Amino acid sequence: MKELINLEINGRPVSAPPEATILDTAREAGIEIPTLCHEPGLKAQAQCRLCVVQVEGRNRLEPACATQVSEGMVLYTDSHKVINARRMILELLLSEHPSNCPARAAGDKCKLCDYSDRFGVDITKFGHGGEGRTVRENWFISRNAAACILCAKCARVCDQVQGISALAFIGRGNKTEARPALKKTLEQTDCEMCGNCVEVCPTGAISRSQSAGLASARKTLTTCGFCGVGCQLELNVKDGRVVGVTSESDNPVNGKWLCVKGRFGYEFIHHQDRLTQPLIRRNGEMEPASWDEALTYTAARLLAIKEKHGPDAIAFISSSRCTNEENYLIQKIARAAIGTNSVDQCART
Ligand code: SF4
Ligand code: SF4
Ligand code: FES
Repeated sequence: MKELINLEINGRPVSAPPEATILDTAREAGIEIPTLCHEPGLKAQAQCRLCVVQVEGRNRLEPACATQVSEGMVLYTDSHKVINARRMILELLLSEHPSNCPARAAGDKCKLCDYSDRFGVDITKFGHGGEGRTVRENWFISRNAAACILCAKCARVCDQVQGISALAFIGRGNKTEARPALKKTLEQTDCEMCGNCVEVCPTGAISRSQSAGLASARKTLTTCGFCGVGCQLELNVKDGRVVGVTSESDNPVNGKWLCVKGRFGYEFIHHQDRLTQPLIRRNGEMEPASWDEALTYTAARLLAIKEKHGPDAIAFISSSRCTNEENYLIQKIARAAIGTNSVDQCART
């Protein structure tokens, strides 16, 4: 077993592995520290400084997300000095943020505005940035540079998770923007439209082109049906319709990360051409049938073919879109009920 080190947070004795950060240790102990640029699974950048904490014996406040714990450390996460520093950081960030936050105006979440409400900051202290303009990059993704707080989460996820680097910090000083280089649009880069940058953006500066108002949608955790990986995602439902996909959970299969199909391929759910009941071909025409009718018909035809031509006249093809259990049952029907080993599916390799 790994040796733990001992420290103290807000007067409470706490232990942690030596390589842990202050943020991880505090969260493990149920002590909340606000963050904007931190994202589990991405390398720490300590960009926003909102997570600062006071370490006894050090003059400066330390970013909890990028500072390792050490034996005997004494920390304060909610002292006056810390709270005042956080307020100042939020006020400075708000001075570059539109007064009419585009994410909130669209009914989505903005972590910066949420923290500002929670910390009761003076939002007028340093004024606000310009309103900016929401630019539709493509069918999936839009950008409003004015809402960006340069946390670099989008660029880091694109580089460290996707391996694409379609987004980067372009420009210098107050002209810095998180966007594709060389004045390209996202479509002119190798962007895979995974939308992972959208998922991690804390302010909605990178947002969904199609769905808005997800903050008030009911979220249902489910498994993506597009392939056999089994990624977890949340379907956002409003008035009985799926209006978007989010991926806020930290499940072990995919964490927050999805591909373009899982994140944006949900419109088929309510498409008018979608098959919602079985069809049986009669006299060359596909006719609607009940499940009982279709299953009885299929069983009778399979047995008739087996009787006349033998079990190897029948083959079963299932799909990686089915669950493991469903694929197991298909091969069981093939081998045990029909007596053939002719069974295959696209995920066999
Ligand atoms: S959608 Fe995916 S690939 Fe495209 S910029 Fe965002 S993270 Fe990178
Ligand atoms: S667009 Fe969003 S994720 Fe990217 S740097 Fe700006 S605030 Fe951060
Ligand atoms: S969350 Fe630690 S510096 Fe941003």
